[in-house]
Amino acid sequence: YSVTGKKKDGTEFPIEIRIRVMEYHGRMVRVAAIRDLREQKKAEEELKHLRNYLKNIVDSMPSILVGVDEQGQITQWNLEAERTTGVGSRDASGKKLGDVFPQLSHAMGKVFEAVKNRQVQKDTKVPLQIGRVTRMSDITIYPLVTNGVEGAVIRVDDITERVRIEEMIIQSEKMLSVGGLAAGMAHEINNPLGGILQNVQVLGNRMKAGLLKNEQVAEECGTTMKCIEKYAERRGLLSMVDMIMDAGKRAAKIVENMLSFSRKGQGRFESHRLSELIDRTIELAGSDYDLKKKYDFRQIEIIREYDQNLPEVFCEQSKIQQVFLNLFKNAAHAMVSVKDSARQPCLTIRTRFENHIVCIEVEDNGVGMDEETRKRIFEPFFTTKEVGSGTGLGLSISYFIVTEEHGGDMMVESSPGKGAKFIIRLPIHAVQSEGDIDSIVTSSFRQGR
Ligand SMILES: Nc1ncnc2c1ncn2[C@@H]1O[C@H](COP(=O)(O)OP(=O)(O)OP(=O)(O)O)[C@@H](O)[C@H]1O
Ligand SMILES: [Mg+2]
Repeated sequence: YSVTGKKKDGTEFPIEIRIRVMEYHGRMVRVAAIRDLREQKKAEEELKHLRNYLKNIVDSMPSILVGVDEQGQITQWNLEAERTTGVGSRDASGKKLGDVFPQLSHAMGKVFEAVKNRQVQKDTKVPLQIGRVTRMSDITIYPLVTNGVEGAVIRVDDITERVRIEEMIIQSEKMLSVGGLAAGMAHEINNPLGGILQNVQVLGNRMKAGLLKNEQVAEECGTTMKCIEKYAERRGLLSMVDMIMDAGKRAAKIVENMLSFSRKGQGRFESHRLSELIDRTIELAGSDYDLKKKYDFRQIEIIREYDQNLPEVFCEQSKIQQVFLNLFKNAAHAMVSVKDSARQPCLTIRTRFENHIVCIEVEDNGVGMDEETRKRIFEPFFTTKEVGSGTGLGLSISYFIVTEEHGGDMMVESSPGKGAKFIIRLPIHAVQSEGDIDSIVTSSFRQGR
């Protein structure tokens, strides 16, 4: 029995009484043992307190901490693990790790290895599907070998944000070198290209009948423009001139795009309602001739999730519209490339305001892209489209406009078959960065980079 004893002074204390019946010299007797439980109770209290204290420490960790025994059964499950999986620590305890947190089941191999070799195992940048999003994680496994009980602690740290920042830094470094190079090259090509186009035009004119000067010179040479025209037609000269002209114009367009890496600041910065700019660009995309040739933008379902309280943004209207147009064109292309005819192309555009930053998301349900492509899409001239149909400049220019000209940032989330989501973040008062690409190029040359 557990009973409460009372001291002379009236204070109470816990007592345990054990009674046993035993034979003593041929008689049955009862033997009672009375024990003061104060020490034991105190030790129990201390143990409970210590357990609570340790649990609080483990729970206050920002990482997921999961203890497993060598059979892969969960022995420890902290608050962060509860938060991430939605499974409470009582429910998880004793279950197999693979049943409660299937994304980590592959870690069990490493647990055995860690226990066997008594060495910490580490996996870095592991993509883990948490709910609907993929989070980048570092997984570390610490072997636990105490009193013959073998197991391990698995620690999972969410490093998505760090990876994002790393990628952004690499991206802007790349843009500085490649973007600068593209701009420099465009400057060099622009003049000779202008010469070619101008002279081809004159050449075409000088082969035509009906112009006084042409007729005059032809006569001086003992022939007529009629003859020359006939000759040019039979030898296909005029269509050749047209072809040179078309090819030249295409090159000029590319150069013009490349030059936008270096041209800056001449546009007007004004306060604009982004929802209006977006709507106007959607209309523009609907009537864009280039786009219409390949796919009808108006067939696409457009879901607008605009934040009604979005403040106006200080930006350059035509540039920002150019960014949206590039995104819409890419999305339209990605959605048309989906083979599944049951999937209705759908473009979702969201705006919201958080921490003084305006955030715009453009999400499509197109073909999406793999990791390799995703890492390269902002590079100038990177394209997966067939030769002649994409220059690969659309996104790099958009990136330049958003980051360099408006002090924002731009990133993408995508996986194959799951569409793509572009996220643009703009400060409401655009910070025009100092110096343009030209000066950056010159300064890198000066530094011998
Ligand atoms: N919404 C998207 N879904 C899937 N892939 C995309 C999407 N947007 C861009 N991409 C990929 O990124 C690449 C680069 O895009 P970018 O706009 O820079 O060039 P492009 O579209 O190929 O050519 P251009 O824009 O000059 O016509 C594309 O070729 C495509 O592979
Ligand atoms: Mg494009």
